[in-house]
Amino acid sequence: MVSASWQRFEEKIAATHTRVKGLETNSHRRNSFMPYTPVAGTPYVDVNGERLLMMSGYSYLGLYGDERVNRAAHQAIETYGTGAHGVRALAGTTPLHEELESEIARFVNREASLVFSSGYAANVGTVGAICGPGDAVFLDKYDHASIVDGCQLSGAAITRFRHNDPDHLDRRLQDSDSAGVKLVIVDSVYSMDGDIAPLPQLRKVCDAHGALLMVDEAHALGVIGGTGRGIEEHFNNQVAVDIKLGTLSKGIPSMGGWVAGTPEMIYHLRYAARPFLFSAALAPAQTGAALEAIRILEQEPERVAHIQRESARLRAILTEAGMNTGDSETAVIPVIAGSDEQAYDYATSCREAGIVGLPVVTPAVPTGLARLRIAITARHQPEHIDQAADAFLVAAAKCELI
Ligand SMILES: Cc1ncc(COP(=O)(O)O)c(C=O)c1O
Repeated sequence: MVSASWQRFEEKIAATHTRVKGLETNSHRRNSFMPYTPVAGTPYVDVNGERLLMMSGYSYLGLYGDERVNRAAHQAIETYGTGAHGVRALAGTTPLHEELESEIARFVNREASLVFSSGYAANVGTVGAICGPGDAVFLDKYDHASIVDGCQLSGAAITRFRHNDPDHLDRRLQDSDSAGVKLVIVDSVYSMDGDIAPLPQLRKVCDAHGALLMVDEAHALGVIGGTGRGIEEHFNNQVAVDIKLGTLSKGIPSMGGWVAGTPEMIYHLRYAARPFLFSAALAPAQTGAALEAIRILEQEPERVAHIQRESARLRAILTEAGMNTGDSETAVIPVIAGSDEQAYDYATSCREAGIVGLPVVTPAVPTGLARLRIAITARHQPEHIDQAADAFLVAAAKCELI
């Protein structure tokens, strides 16, 4: 006999099927969960027998598949094997983890860092180690889900403020009667919009209310600042944040997350961040690959300049042609189509024109602002940007977006 709990669970399964089926137009099917195989050394991918120009990847520095990074991963496997001997606090730490943590700390101008097994875990673990019941967190409305989840798990009181609006944050902090930690968390670069947090103004507001400021550099490391060091460098190192954190799965073509700060703070996190304490260490291949990629980033800052130059060029072409790219000022360029259906149809037309531009729809973005999330990488040479621009405009005309 089926238990009552199983029946309740089946209702949830059925609800998901109904919700997703509602989205599953032909266009949706052609754009979701597709198996992409990268074409080595190029920004192209093979998918179901077609070769397309990938314009929606996350490997901003173009180091995905880089021979040096692959070699470092192989070497790490040769030395340490494929898995981890458990959690970092017990047998899971290797010299490679310590080397990676030193390198990250040095690169982001902090004394110490800690590496997690994902960026998601880094956010959940860090927030939970800073805040708990009695504390208060203040989140930009567009903060990443891992920040929101971390705050919910922490038990702290959650307040949202309007996107990139320091005055609204000011009022929210004013209204707070928390006597505990006040923690403001923002993304440095917003993943679906490509705009940058107004750091100097946020710092001012935080200081006025005695609040800590934490930034998530997931889409900023390797992308903004003259040498890719993120949001502080973008604002000429005039303003410092209290806690900074990021991933190793985007510009750095590996997996994992990191948080950087004072040695005392990192010591605390080692014992208080539960996703760090209770989950296996980052695998050796990922650790070695991340370490090599950060070293390449430091030696080849021209990759950062390339991303910034080609992003600005594509954005200018699209906006001059009448496309809506929102407030983007980074390698992430949203091409806003309107309804979810319009975004799916636009993605399909782009694919027919030879490029992958992946749709992002509600609830990930507000209703009516569904878009293709375009991202420029250092693998995109000027001719690729020209090819993409042509395809975006041909498809936009076909979909009556311009
Ligand atoms: C802003 C931001 N933070 C954190 C994460 C999570 O990182 P990861 O995929 O490495 O777990 C993401 C991933 O998309 C992100 O966009």
